[in-house]
Parts: sequence; C-alpha cells; structure tokens
Amino acid sequence: MGRIDTLLGDITQVKADAIVNAANCTLLGGGGVDGAIHRAAGPELLAECRTLHGCATGQAKITKGYKLPAKYVIHTPGPIWRGGGQGEDGLLASCYRSSLEVAAEHGCKTVAFSAISTGVYRFPLERAAAIAVGAVREFLSHSGLPETVTFVCLLPEVKAAFDRALQES
Ligand code: APR
Repeated sequence: MGRIDTLLGDITQVKADAIVNAANCTLLGGGGVDGAIHRAAGPELLAECRTLHGCATGQAKITKGYKLPAKYVIHTPGPIWRGGGQGEDGLLASCYRSSLEVAAEHGCKTVAFSAISTGVYRFPLERAAAIAVGAVREFLSHSGLPETVTFVCLLPEVKAAFDRALQES
C-alpha cells in the first residue's frame, strides 16, 4: 500500500493530523480553500495567523486547527502562474517540501494537501499535479513522517489529474 493517495471532497472535513491550506502571503485569509478553512476553523484561526506576520511564497507556517477536525493547519502560499518563466515550478515544489518538513517537525502521521496554486493562482493542473507528486515522493523517500499523504480534491478533474500523476511517476 503506497503512502500517497487522493480523495474527492472538502478538505475542511478531513480528520488528518494536518491539513495544508493554499494561502496567500498575508496569511489573513481569502477565497477558495483558504476561505473555506477559515470559515470552518472559526475566528481563532485568523487571530493566530495575525501573530505569524505573513509567509513567503514556497514557505510554510503551522497553526492549530481550532474548530476543524484536523489538529493543525499548515499554511503555504503557492506561486501565481506567470507563464512558467519566473521559477513557478520550483516554488510550487517548495510549498510541498516546506509543508512536509513542518508536519514532520510536529510529529504529524497523516497530512492532507489541497491542490496548491491550481485555482485562483492559475497554475496548469497537470503540471502542478506532477510537481506535487514528485516533491511528496522525494520527501517520503527519506522521511518516516508523515506516514501518509492525501491529496484532497474538491473537483473531479483535479482528482483525476493527481491520480494520473500518481500512476505515471
Ligand atoms: N477543499 C479542498 N479543495 C478545495 C476546497 C475545499 N473546500 N476549496 C477549493 N479547493 C481547491 C480548488 O478547487 C483548487 O483545486 O483548492 C485548489 C486551490 O485553489 P484556490 O483555493 O483558489 O488556491 P490557489 O489557486 O492556491 O490561490 C490562492 O486564493 O483563496 C485565495 O487567499 C488565497 O490568495 C490566495 C489564492
């Protein structure tokens, strides 16, 4: 049984040790999955986020999960797609790597990722899925934690892209 899988659904309902939020650099909430996570977690999440003073693209910061079923939320700002010539691929890979490093530091056994940058930030979906799977595979090859990683996809076409990336690599 592999340590990576996909799930169709709403990440705010996933009972993982940590769920990973597709944030922006202010860490003060937004739309998409960021908005959904803040709504589900409640106002204490934003209050804790304010103490973090933002986060650079490709980096990751952790907070409690509050009213979410997940114990932690890891916030990682993905790159905005600008055509591929501004280091977007490397920054997206760094989102996954940084998030996994923080998760492992906090002893997380299960981590659920949203599909970073594939919405408002317009990163091409197939390309994002291949980068995500590659980065997670590489991290898990040298780390026992987390034990499992799940890509939680709200949209069927997103899940299909991640399933293809898992089969192809
Ligand atoms: N559960 C799981 N996945 C979700 C959910 C949800 N409840 N809501 C949205 N998604 C998916 C989208 O379908 C997309 O595949 O999350 C992925 C990322 O899309 P966005 O949320 O738009 O994030 P991103 O493209 O990284 O843009 C980030 O959008 O919401 C703002 O504050 C955020 O400025 C930041 C920007």
